[in-house]
Amino acid sequence: MATIGLIGGTGDLGTALAIHLSKKHLVLLGSRSLVKASSAVEDILKEKPGRDYLRTNLRPVENSTAAQKCDILILTVPHSTVLDTIRSLNAKFQDNQIIISAAAAVAKEGEEFRVDESGVTGSYAEGVKSLVPATVKVAAAFQTVPANVLYKEREISADVPVAADYLETYRQVALLISDIEGLRPLFVGSLRQAAEIESLTAFLLNIGTKNKLRSPTIKFPSF
Ligand SMILES: NC(=O)c1ccc[n+]([C@@H]2O[C@H](COP(=O)([O-])OP(=O)(O)OC[C@H]3O[C@@H](n4cnc5c(N)ncnc54)[C@H](OP(=O)(O)O)[C@@H]3O)[C@@H](O)[C@H]2O)c1
Repeated sequence: MATIGLIGGTGDLGTALAIHLSKKHLVLLGSRSLVKASSAVEDILKEKPGRDYLRTNLRPVENSTAAQKCDILILTVPHSTVLDTIRSLNAKFQDNQIIISAAAAVAKEGEEFRVDESGVTGSYAEGVKSLVPATVKVAAAFQTVPANVLYKEREISADVPVAADYLETYRQVALLISDIEGLRPLFVGSLRQAAEIESLTAFLLNIGTKNKLRSPTIKFPSF
């Protein structure tokens, strides 16, 4: 059992990951406000009644507590706030932690979604790497996973591309992804590939809206 922190855990993706990961791990659901984190956990307990593991394993905290106490942190804040969030928590990170950036670089322009990497060179995940101490490892993952499907616990079968500079970082992230039924981690390569992953969300949103597909995700069959 690892301790997993969700930075910005009160939103759609954070709460969705929280209900799955707390089956096997201690999950600290973080927010800028402890009151908001507590209210998010209360809402989850009301919406998902009778789950002992949620009562035992899911705890509200401020983001700064999550940053200090967790083995793996998942960054689930809007992409435009990623770098400021990391700067505000930078003194709290611990050696050997892994930060998984779930940020997707999406902006809406008229009826279409587009990739928005303004404010970073390369990708948001590389932006995170440039700010944290070298002892903290960074990965990009979850950009292609629809939060609403996970939260509703609908059956899902999806591939989750992961970028990370070290194979050992990928292995730990892959184990965590595999803890969620129906998700298959796939290694894409070093963090230099993160921009490709971050751009997939705009691509999926356009496919969804233009073809009336609800919550499309990706799956790579092989023959
Ligand atoms: N939703 C999806 O299906 C999905 C799928 C894949 C990837 N993603 C990516 O995952 C990330 C989170 O998505 P989401 O839909 O869960 O986002 P969200 O609901 O809009 O926001 C998540 C949380 O971020 C925090 N936040 C908002 N503004 C902030 C600011 N200025 N500074 C610091 N924290 C702030 C808030 O938490 P507090 O107010 O409690 O601090 C909020 O509850 C995004 O980068 C998104 O691109 C989302």
